[in-house]
Amino acid sequence: MSQLQNDLVIKAAKRLPTDRTPIWIMRQAGRYLPEYRAVRAKHDFLTMCKTPELAAEVTIQPVNIIGVDAAIIFSDILVIPEAMGMHLEITEGKGPVFPSPVNSKEEVVKLKNPDPSKDLRYVLDAILLTKKELNGRVPIIGFAGAPWTILTYMVEGHGSKSFSKVKKLIYGNPELAHILLEKITKATAAYLSAQIEAGTSLVQIFDTWAGILSPGDYQMFAMRYVQQLISEIKRKDEPVIYFPKGVHYLMHELKEVGADAISVDWTVELEKARRKMGDKVAIQGNLDPTVLYADTDSIKREARKVLESFGKGHGHIFNLGHGILPDIDPENVKALVSYVKEESKNFH
Ligand code: CP3
Repeated sequence: MSQLQNDLVIKAAKRLPTDRTPIWIMRQAGRYLPEYRAVRAKHDFLTMCKTPELAAEVTIQPVNIIGVDAAIIFSDILVIPEAMGMHLEITEGKGPVFPSPVNSKEEVVKLKNPDPSKDLRYVLDAILLTKKELNGRVPIIGFAGAPWTILTYMVEGHGSKSFSKVKKLIYGNPELAHILLEKITKATAAYLSAQIEAGTSLVQIFDTWAGILSPGDYQMFAMRYVQQLISEIKRKDEPVIYFPKGVHYLMHELKEVGADAISVDWTVELEKARRKMGDKVAIQGNLDPTVLYADTDSIKREARKVLESFGKGHGHIFNLGHGILPDIDPENVKALVSYVKEESKNFH
């Protein structure tokens, strides 16, 4: 299947037997690591994304320092709207901003259908270089935002509390929302296909804002585009992980979305997620990221609860329920990873 020395994440995503539970951490390449901050002190965030040598360096850092079982390519979900023609700014302390968010049919029509081999060449080059440097130690995970989450950023211009602009769009002009979602879906399918071709062994779709919709609207504006997206990704047997943050009331539908694994946040018991979806998909998650503020004994106790909740057997990828926070002590993350690697043997 592959010449990887460690393919546990791939095996678990396919629900194949492993002798322990693999672990990686959402947003593992980032500011909680002093080694990341040292690179970041010399370059701005977008320059890092667009310079394959820098992107590869910080992608590999958590593999070397923390001991995770996969590398996730250093980039951002917002490179897609940028490649579609939107101007993206990352302001210090404020995060990413689109100064001119989309709010009319003319602007939607003007957005281009990016060619990943040109417009997102830098991501593909970063994957190729990372693959060479990793030399088969662990698989590389590619990623993109889900169409709904990307639409939200394109229309709001930045993160939001009330999401009033994007809600105004879906209730006031649903046709336009669907046209834009369709465009994003096409662009993202081509982008994820190109990442796989460049050498990622799995891909994850981040639907960070899935949980702000009512169940009916989630199905209409979010889930059906994820289903379409997954069906359009060109892949051989590379697994797809879908992370619909905040949505655990639709597990029967979610297991049919076409993903090999569903990532769940900490507000649902893994036992329940497994009972409802485990016959069809692997489950990823779901330690509350703030547990990592605690002392090592408490971290181990909480991690054990996650392992117990999933129970014995295959098809579990250990992860946090959302991204790691920037002020976490890396020593705590190391302790979590080595504990899960050792303790999870008892569950296989
Ligand atoms: O997981 C990884 O380590 C790979 C890299 C990665 C980044 N962003 C790097 C990043 C991934 C997978 C993302 C995904 C992403 N980006 C999401 C979905 C995941 C989630 O957390 O919900 C979202 C919503 C974004 C958009 C985004 N990018 C925000 C809201 C911010 C600002 C807040 C923050 O975390 O800083 C970013 C910037 C960003 N993306 C940073 C990193 C390391 C920080 C940039 C810096 O160094 O200043």
